[in-house]
Parts: sequence; C-alpha cells; structure tokens
Amino acid sequence: MRVLLTGGAGYIGSHTALVLLDHGHEVVVLDDFSNSSREAVRRVEELSGSRVPVIEVDLADRERALAALADVEFDAAIHCAGLKAVGESVAQPSRYYRVNLDSTLTLLDVMRERGVSKLVFSSSATVYGDPAYVPQDEQHQVGVGLTNPYGWSKFMNEQIIRDAQAAWPELGAVLLRYFNPVGAHPSGRIGEDPSGIPNNLMPFIAQVAVGVRERLSVFGDTYPTPDGTGVRDYIHVMDLAEGHVAALERIEAGVVSYNLGSGTGSSVLDVVSAFEAASGRPIPYDVVPPRPGDVAEVVANPAKANTELDWRTTRSLADACRDTWAWQSANPSGYGA
Ligand code: UFG
Repeated sequence: MRVLLTGGAGYIGSHTALVLLDHGHEVVVLDDFSNSSREAVRRVEELSGSRVPVIEVDLADRERALAALADVEFDAAIHCAGLKAVGESVAQPSRYYRVNLDSTLTLLDVMRERGVSKLVFSSSATVYGDPAYVPQDEQHQVGVGLTNPYGWSKFMNEQIIRDAQAAWPELGAVLLRYFNPVGAHPSGRIGEDPSGIPNNLMPFIAQVAVGVRERLSVFGDTYPTPDGTGVRDYIHVMDLAEGHVAALERIEAGVVSYNLGSGTGSSVLDVVSAFEAASGRPIPYDVVPPRPGDVAEVVANPAKANTELDWRTTRSLADACRDTWAWQSANPSGYGA
C-alpha cells in the first residue's frame, strides 16, 4: 500500500515509517516539523534504502493542507500527527484542541473525497482515565477522570472517527491505544528527540545518563505499588511500529480499538535499574512529591491485539534501555547534533 503517514518525522512516526518500508509498503510523510526533524526522515531513507517523499504542511491548516495533498495518491493513512505534551496542553488548551482536532477533521475529509477508506489512528491509554481496574482491556470505561486537554483531544478524536464511520460505512478505522512507548531503533540512528526538558521518564533518564541533566526526580514513592513508585506498561517503539503495520494490513470496514502494550508493569525504580544496567552509568535521583494527575498503575491487557492482529511485543524493557542508550549516546543532542 501507499501510506500517507502524518507526523511521520516524529518519534513514533519515524519508526513506523521504517517498519512499513520493511514490509514492502510505500510511505509519504506529512509533517510540519514543529516538533520533529527532517533529519529523522533522511535517516529512515538511509536505513531502509528507500526514498520517502515529504509534504511539509500543518494538517490543521485546512486550506494549505488541501492544496498540498491535491496531487498526492495514497491507499491508506496512519495519523500520528498531533501535539502530545500533557502539561503544555493544560497551559494551552485551545492550541491543543485546534491542532489535534482540526488535523483529524481535515484528514477525514480528504480521505472521504478521495475514497481512501483505511485509517489507523494514534490514540492513547490516556482515554481510559482513572483506572477502574488493571490491567485494562478495551472494554474499560473511557473518558472518565481525564485530567488534561491532551487526553480529552485523544478521546474526542476517537469519537470524531466513530461518527465519520457512521456517516461513511466503507471507512475502516483502527484506534491504537498506546501505553508507554520507549526505546529506539537498534541501530541508534533514530530515536526520541524531545524539545526542551523531557516530560517522560525514559528520555529524562537517558539525558541524565549521558550527562545532559544532573538528576532524575522520581515523582512519589508512596503509591500502592511494590516499591511505592508509579507502575507503567513500557512498550518498545519497534513493537509499537509493528503494531501499526499489523493493524493496517487487517483493516476492515468499521471502527475497532486495540491496546498496544506488553501486559507487564514496571515501576520508575525498575526503569532506573534497567537503564543503569544497559548504560553502565549511574542514574542519581531524588524522590519528590507526586506529579498532579498521575495514577499509581497503568498496564495493558493486550489480549485483543494479540489474537485479532496476531501481534505481540517481543522486546523487553532491557532491550528498550539498550536501544535508547545506543541512540542517546551516539546523538547526545538528538538530531540537532
Ligand atoms: N516519572 C518520574 N519522573 C519523571 C518523569 C516521569 O518519576 O521525570 C514517572 C511518572 O510519575 C510515572 C512514570 O514515571 O509514574 C511514567 O511517566 P511518563 O511521563 O513517562 O508517562 P505517563 O504514564 O505519565 O504518560 C504517558 C504518555 C502520555 C499518555 C499516557 C497514557 O506520556 O502521553 O502515558 O497512559 F497519555
């Protein structure tokens, strides 16, 4: 298939591009490079030996996006473009809603007009809100206890896609609810390159290991978890990328959601130890009060994706730490190096 990959220069998009190419698909990247780098696409080309055309446009800018896509042929879309920083979304709600919702609306309109009926959407386990039980399956309630505009925008996008499908029954859409993506391509050539101070645990730890930052702050150690620190389901980004391709290759008319997670929870201190072992560097840390909006434990039940997509994670937290270290140590300043 010829796949339009929005946000294809970003962390998840770039790894997904590589796996798509490895599976014999063609990729057209659409990105506005507001939080990503052309260098990522160049390295995907280098790793794959394929050319990857790039459309530089903000998908939320409807007129420009329609013009930029006018001559672009594609058979399916994977929609990863969007803003994703939880804290920033609280400070800039209208920007988050505008970018994250308008981009989806424009993409759906273009797809309908062209008769392109296959869509894979980057959703998030954040739609489950306050966990009613763990591990969470796809039947878990959604939209209850969401604490930030980023999370609401994922929830709203899922509803927008369901409504679009109701109005256009040929549309086949897959909502992929990511747990905590970590790791990098094992070559260390592509990886996560957050701008500014990383919000997420793994890139922060990687920057401490490489000496860009001094110490990690561990957000709370009195949660009801084995060591008191928050537990999450960390999924290697290459496993996540393979999940997109598995979903794409099985799309049927309708809307279906899948958890992309490993089913295994790891605490903050587990991640610290795993990273120390992978890098051979100490990760000094201080325990500080919990971060507002955080919950004790979020872990996927990935059984539905395992069965229906014939997909499962094959890489461990140790693999993710090794690959993150390969990326971070070779690219201490990310793509800007
Ligand atoms: N943490 C720290 N110190 C840090 C950063 C994080 O102790 O500097 C802790 C958090 O408290 C949490 C764990 O590490 O217990 C993971 O935190 P992340 O910020 O890496 O990830 P979250 O689980 O908070 O959020 C992630 C994505 C969201 C997504 C959510 C879905 O960042 O986009 O998973 O569950 F919505």
